[in-house]
Amino acid sequence: MKDTQQKHLWWQEGVIYQIYPRSYQDSNGDGVGDLQGIIQRLEHIKSLCIKAIWISPLFSSPMADFGYDISDYCDIHPLFGSMDDFDELLQAVHDRDMKLILDLVPNHTSDEHPWFKESRSSKDNPKRDWYIWKDANEDGSEPNNWLAMFGGSAWEWDEHTQQYYYHAFLKEQPDLNWRNPEVQEAMLDVMRFWLDKGVDGFRVDVMWHMIKDEQLRDNPVNPHYKAHQATYEKLIPAYSTDQPEVHDIVHKMRKVLDSYDERMMIGEIYLPIHKLMTYYGTDKSGAHLPFNFLLLSIDWDATEISSNINQYEGALPNGGWPNWVLGNHDQPRITSRVGKAQARVAAMLLLTLRGTPTIYYGDEIGMRDVPIPPDEVQDPQGLNMPGLNLSRDPQRTPMQWDRSENAGFSESKPWLRLPEDYRRVNVKTQLEDEFSIYALYKRLIKLRQEEPALHIGDYRPVVASSPLLAYLRYTSDQRFLILLNLSHKPCHFAPEHFNFEGTIEIDTLPEREGATVSKHVSLSGDEGMIIRLK
Ligand code: GLC
Repeated sequence: MKDTQQKHLWWQEGVIYQIYPRSYQDSNGDGVGDLQGIIQRLEHIKSLCIKAIWISPLFSSPMADFGYDISDYCDIHPLFGSMDDFDELLQAVHDRDMKLILDLVPNHTSDEHPWFKESRSSKDNPKRDWYIWKDANEDGSEPNNWLAMFGGSAWEWDEHTQQYYYHAFLKEQPDLNWRNPEVQEAMLDVMRFWLDKGVDGFRVDVMWHMIKDEQLRDNPVNPHYKAHQATYEKLIPAYSTDQPEVHDIVHKMRKVLDSYDERMMIGEIYLPIHKLMTYYGTDKSGAHLPFNFLLLSIDWDATEISSNINQYEGALPNGGWPNWVLGNHDQPRITSRVGKAQARVAAMLLLTLRGTPTIYYGDEIGMRDVPIPPDEVQDPQGLNMPGLNLSRDPQRTPMQWDRSENAGFSESKPWLRLPEDYRRVNVKTQLEDEFSIYALYKRLIKLRQEEPALHIGDYRPVVASSPLLAYLRYTSDQRFLILLNLSHKPCHFAPEHFNFEGTIEIDTLPEREGATVSKHVSLSGDEGMIIRLK
């Protein structure tokens, strides 16, 4: 059956919007965003025609990694509000016919979590095996050569019980032992807790890390390592990540979701295409959407992008639904990577490709990475590896709502600084400007949601030469031709074997909209257009 004839679910048809809760809206004047703040801003999200909101962790946490170190999976951090605030938010999201996706962090807890406190209390504690404990080598060294993502060894010595424990990230984030069935059950219960409340799905943190080699073999050395890279890159994580048994775990999570109605799971997975595909699971019994981060990692070049889209499309398992991402709280913002003018073209790409798009908050107004002076850096990844420019603070700065002091984000000094130009780059100013990137995002999402060809239609590449990226999106009744100039210089589209005629529906240069084009068309630098074909 063709994809367009099947029933599609909300997470296939709609657009997802990611909120980094510390930075969206502060309602109580402490300089940090919170749940009531998000509730105040739901209309902004709704007016963009977003279907689902994913919020980064909101749970109890000592905040060593800003909430990705959880000390209670079933409670809300007071900084963000209370469980009542959460219930109110969930209701408010549902009242607007939107969905709520929570961040599930199953790979590791905080070292302050009661499970770890018990586990580290003695070697014979019943929870000892809930984490990964190992004896030192005879010379006292670490059990193997594994490195932590945030710098240094992945093993931390515990003086009290005279063993090492494994942590893929900070030492304050010990990894759970997912080979232990009690751990599995405990985390599946966490899922049930939130699903029973009515949460619509999870974005699962570092899914490909969840199971490690049973023998804990040394990782091989990476011969391509360069000094400017994070120290973690010195080794190839062949034994510490992406182990075959991870799929059994993902399948168990999927079964929990499937016992509820229309819930879903996105997996955070940074792996090459062929490995990423395995996370859909046999017969689609894995993640609904293994995050596709291709657009974050490849060069901004038409040939490169086109070939990656084709590889990705070609590798999808039967019935596996695609998805695309331009940014998140761990990666430089798209506007900083490709520049202001290309960020508009990027928006058109994201919102016309086949598959679920995820938008990172602030990208809809073209927010850029904000330079954070060294003495204000807060991200542990930046602090632990100074000089490598790895801090993620620049992409986590407060949402720029208006021209007022603190950009309408807070009544007091925000936890991270705002950029100098926030009085120009903000939601309110752009709302009044029909040529703004915000206006473009709004129209792109609206058209995508109105046109089945764009939200569930098929994809076909159209031959074009760099810097032009060209493709069709279509159903049996409607076809759209998308032309994107990925350079700053003009270019011309004159296909030899493809005769087209249509009307420009949306253009990054709105002055051209409504014009009829046929056979060939010239594009300005940084121009993208969606043509409704006859
Ligand atoms: C994921 C999160 C990142 C966090 C890490 C450790 O990659 O996206 O922000 O630091 O996991 O939990």
